Amino acid sequence: MTTAARDEAARRRTFAVISHPDAGKSTLTEALALHARVINEAGAIHGKAGRKSTVSDWMDIEKARGISISSAALQFTYGDAVINLVDTPGHADFSEDTYRVLAAVDSAVMLVDAAKGMEPQTLKLFQVCRHRGIPVLTVINKWDRPGLEALQLMDEVRDKTGLEPTPLTWPVGIAGDFRGVIDRRTGEFVKFTRTAGGATIAPERAMSPAEAAESEGDAWTFAVEESELLDAMGQVHDQDAFLNGKTTPVLFGSAVLNFGVRQLLDTLLELAPPPGARPDEKGEPRELDQPFSAFVFKVQAGMDSAHRDRLAFVRVCSGVFERGSVVTHASTGKPFATKYAQQVFGRERSTVDVAYPGDVVGLVNASSLRVGDSLYVDDPVTFPPIPSFAPEHFAVVRAKDSGRYKQFRRGIEQLEQEGVVQVLRSDLRGDQAPVLAAVGPMQFEVATHRMEHEFTAPVTMDRLEYTLARKTDRIWAKVLDRESGVEVLERGDGELLALFAGSWRLNRVLRDHPDVLLEPLVAASE
Ligand code: G4P
Repeated sequence: MTTAARDEAARRRTFAVISHPDAGKSTLTEALALHARVINEAGAIHGKAGRKSTVSDWMDIEKARGISISSAALQFTYGDAVINLVDTPGHADFSEDTYRVLAAVDSAVMLVDAAKGMEPQTLKLFQVCRHRGIPVLTVINKWDRPGLEALQLMDEVRDKTGLEPTPLTWPVGIAGDFRGVIDRRTGEFVKFTRTAGGATIAPERAMSPAEAAESEGDAWTFAVEESELLDAMGQVHDQDAFLNGKTTPVLFGSAVLNFGVRQLLDTLLELAPPPGARPDEKGEPRELDQPFSAFVFKVQAGMDSAHRDRLAFVRVCSGVFERGSVVTHASTGKPFATKYAQQVFGRERSTVDVAYPGDVVGLVNASSLRVGDSLYVDDPVTFPPIPSFAPEHFAVVRAKDSGRYKQFRRGIEQLEQEGVVQVLRSDLRGDQAPVLAAVGPMQFEVATHRMEHEFTAPVTMDRLEYTLARKTDRIWAKVLDRESGVEVLERGDGELLALFAGSWRLNRVLRDHPDVLLEPLVAASE
């Protein structure tokens, strides 16, 4: 069993696509699945409102807006490999979920719109990858449409991320005239052919440089010149530099036409790291062939009105997961039965009987599990907590109907456990009017919706003027509470957070109390 874990881990790649909304993440997901032949025709799996189906859009408000907030994982095989594509929510108003998902992956694909270059949400997500030491591949998407120049895009990637781009392919034909790519390692031309609406795998033809020159003329000559320029500048792939977060291999493609998708899958297999030993809380590695262990990176309830249950998504870190086995919940020491284990991608659910390191399993009715919790068999292990990100939006929440206070409390507790929002309390405000804290205001909408529809406790939300939070201690809390425009509240995890209405308030406190304890939280937007 133990070598099975090692062998299975070696053929797995667990990654997420990070991008700004509309860069083409859903389209790329479809295209990847199409290549792996999960579906026969693009458009069937991950469509948005108005497309064939909305597999990954589960909540009413998501449907109404045509966006996707939930995330789970899509697993498919590609040749001998098993690919786990962990879905990141794609709304412009980011929530913490998106960042937490990145705790579950071994690499990320940064998807860049060729016409727009590096956009803010892509950068935010990139920062989280850097913070976590996750290697990043870059795909320049939508090359079939007019856009920036390829070299200009490389400058943007370098300037905004600090990573040296090392293109593996280089486009032949400017943006809007996508003929194919140079495989920079073999020098061959890979010519793409369009299919109707990009609905099937685009046929490719490999050509020698001489054939390419004949067939593509100036476009080929120009691409070769640029590619040679990259060589001269040393922009060539170096595996160690990639794994150490110094460089990012780049591919060019068009998700909608399925161009460059095979190259991405092959690159993931060749260069992206497979699941490896994961350090525990003390920094000791949990080896792949040790008994089963996993950690919860996402908890979600009410995913589907047909299944009003609660799922905890775990990433397997070591050993073999076998459905039905009893595992230990590290934080309570209690046994947890894994009778119901599922793979979830949007509305599609299937039972998971066995899973290996790198896989994502949805545990059903896991009401005791919280984000960051560890599970194990035999050798105890606790994985490091998933950082909660610095909230920037705050609102007081109250039950509209005071007669429904019980439902209100239960709902707030549940949302807190799932990490939908952070919940801050103080004696002054009391339990009836806690403060909700969020990284993105969208989290408030989700909370409001769920309080009403799931917990039958409609709420009012009153936004507060605070924009900054810092950690402090009980002694300083007393001092800070006397300052105007500052309030100290206690978060569910026991952390005391001082909230400030703007940076000038914070600066004034720092000036008046040079010794004050005010520790920054992990900022999502640094
Ligand atoms: P997202 O999940 O990152 O938000 O993006 P999504 O895949 O939904 O793509 C956003 C829009 O960009 C879609 O157009 C999609 O068709 C288009 N798109 C994605 N990849 C490519 C590409 O490689 N080339 C071109 N030309 N377009 C691309 P839409 O008009 O919003 O939707 P649709 O009606 O076309 O599906």
